[in-house]
Amino acid sequence: MSLSISLAINGRKHELHLEDSRVTLLDLLRERLDLTGTKKGCDRGQCGACTVLVDGRRINSCLALAVSLDGAEVTTIEGLAEGEVLHPVQAAFIEHDGFQCGYCTPGQIMSAVGLIAEGHAGEDPERIRELMSGNICRCGAYKGITEAVQEAQQVISQRSRRDAA
Ligand code: FES
Ligand code: FES
Repeated sequence: MSLSISLAINGRKHELHLEDSRVTLLDLLRERLDLTGTKKGCDRGQCGACTVLVDGRRINSCLALAVSLDGAEVTTIEGLAEGEVLHPVQAAFIEHDGFQCGYCTPGQIMSAVGLIAEGHAGEDPERIRELMSGNICRCGAYKGITEAVQEAQQVISQRSRRDAA
């Protein structure tokens, strides 16, 4: 049986026919749409490497069946920068060395973008670490990651205050 779904991915509409109702969003992104920035780590919801935003909320795309997301808006790491201009979270990860091998980094960044949008991380590094705890970094780059989230949060809130003025 073939199923049809419609997804807006990084602002672009896709009409997709699924041959298999069990295909995950992660496999759809990587294998069908060539959006390989989203990484596959454990493939069972335990590492966060596959984190993307669905309707603005962070999820593990390895656990989401594509068929259940008909009509959703999906944002992946490829959709964050505006042309040559990096998203504040991307810029902050570079500034604070929030990565080593980089494998977990797209998931960390997407998780941080979602976390900041949720608006309840606050400035406390412990709280940020707790709310990012679903994203594992085998290289142990947690110090830089936490500092990057703190800085990006400040940049984003300054921008929104300026835009509202
Ligand atoms: Fe999805 Fe690890 S690959 S949580
Ligand atoms: Fe290597 Fe996080 S930077 S796993």
